[in-house]
Amino acid sequence: MVNNLATQLREGTSKSHSMAENVSFVKSFLGGVIDKESYRKLISNLYFVYSAMEEEMEKNKIMNLLNRSITELNRNLELDLEHYYGSNWKSLIRISEATKAYVERIKMISNERPELLIAHAYTRYLGDLSGGQILKKLPRAMNLSDGKGLSFYEFEEVTDEQEFKQNYKRALDSLPLDSHLADNIVAEANISFTMNMKMFQELETSFSRIIIKLITNWFSSIFQPKVSQA
Ligand code: HEM
Repeated sequence: MVNNLATQLREGTSKSHSMAENVSFVKSFLGGVIDKESYRKLISNLYFVYSAMEEEMEKNKIMNLLNRSITELNRNLELDLEHYYGSNWKSLIRISEATKAYVERIKMISNERPELLIAHAYTRYLGDLSGGQILKKLPRAMNLSDGKGLSFYEFEEVTDEQEFKQNYKRALDSLPLDSHLADNIVAEANISFTMNMKMFQELETSFSRIIIKLITNWFSSIFQPKVSQA
């Protein structure tokens, strides 16, 4: 039996964490450079991920294992989507290729090895409760939002993030797991990090495209031969 799953997860994903922090899109976000279109695509992707994850966790009563309820971790992502896309957001948002693969992985795990959903919950929720708290200041700083459209970062039921994380980690440590299952959970958490990175890398492509387009437009506006008025 193991009783340190939380430490194993932290140590076993530290390399993946550094890699995720170094994806250009994440760095651009952190550096305060992001456009509204990429940001709203990011939250659309996250909507698909959380909908699948929460539905499958609910089906398998994963949070009960940790003596928690899924509703404690709910965020009103729909409100943000309405803010950025308008009231018909549901018909406007599209799932990206990498997000589709991520969602398929969650569903496959739920059918075949539901206990590994613990790993997906770890990567996303503890991430949002940690670095996510740094990221939450950015959309406003970048003028992406007038203070609205930031519900994603608010865990309304969590009053103290640090305390919540400590309790969550204690619950991870008290799961009755053998070392083989613990290893599999850490391996799945690394897969979850990879799927997140792929989702960010796709946004990087569209972000780079926007930058290239802006530069091309700027160049052509400067170098276009002036039409003679004579
Ligand atoms: C530039 C972006 C990021 C920053 C600045 C950042 C920052 C941090 C910080 C400071 C912590 C430690 C908090 C603590 O010890 O209490 C943390 C933990 C964590 N982050 Fe990130 N992070 C970033 C990106 C990500 C991404 C992309 C993911 C996954 C999708 C992620 C997942 C996690 C997880 C799961 C933890 C919990 C580690 C543990 O205590 O077990 N982070 N992050």
